[in-house]
Amino acid sequence: MITLALSKGRIFDETLPLLKAAGIEVLDDPEKTRKLILATNQPEVRVVLVRATDVPTYVQYGGADLGITGLDTLIEHGNEGLYLPLDLQIAKCRVSVAVREGFDYAAAVRQGARLRVATKYVAIAREFFAAKGVHVDLIKLYGSMELAPLTGLADAIVDLVSTGNTLKANHLVEVERIMDISSRLVVNQAALKLKREPIRRIIDAFGQALGQP
Ligand code: PRP
Repeated sequence: MITLALSKGRIFDETLPLLKAAGIEVLDDPEKTRKLILATNQPEVRVVLVRATDVPTYVQYGGADLGITGLDTLIEHGNEGLYLPLDLQIAKCRVSVAVREGFDYAAAVRQGARLRVATKYVAIAREFFAAKGVHVDLIKLYGSMELAPLTGLADAIVDLVSTGNTLKANHLVEVERIMDISSRLVVNQAALKLKREPIRRIIDAFGQALGQP
C-alpha cells in the first residue's frame, strides 16, 4: 500500500491533476465526506487527509509514504528523514513582513529598537531578521496574524500573502518580501527504499506532468 498525505483545500485541489497524470483518481470529495482515509481507483494507493502543518510529520515517521506540503511548512518543520524530489509549482504564494498602514517600518528598523513580530513562521522570521541584523521579539501565533498589529500585540507580522486581499481588508501593508513559496513533494526515505517501484512511478509521472525530466 502507498499512502499519500494531503491537506484539504488548495493543495488537495491543485494536486488532483498531478494524480491524474499518474493514473490516480481519488474516489471521494474531501469537502463532502467526513472520512480521513480516501480510496483511489488504484487499490494499492490511498490518500490520508491531515492538517497542512502535520504533513511533514506523517511522512517523516512513516504514517504516510509521500506527502505534499508548502515550503513554509517544510522550513518550519525541518527536512529530517525526508526526500524532496520535486517542486510541484502549486499553491504559490509568498512569505512577507506586513505592518499597519502608517507605521514607519523603515524607521523602526533603522532605530534598532527591538521589533515585536507576531507569526506562525517563527523559524523563517528568526532567520530573516537575524540575517538583517534586526533585533526582534517573536510572538508565536497559530492564525489570524493580521490582528496582531491592529490590537497592539505586535509591530509587524510575518505571514503568507497570495492576492494581498487579506492585508488590504485589515489595513495592513506588505513592507518586505521574505521568500516565494510553492508546494513540494516529500517522500519518506525508508519507504523510497522499500517501495521503490511504485513510489518512483508516482514521482516520475508528477515530474513529467510538470515538464521536468
Ligand atoms: C493565508 C494567510 C493570509 C491569507 C493571505 O491564510 O495566513 O491570511 O492566506 O491570502 P491573500 O493574500 O490571498 O488574502 P490561509 O487561508 O492559508 O489560512 P490560515 O489562516 O489557516 O493560514
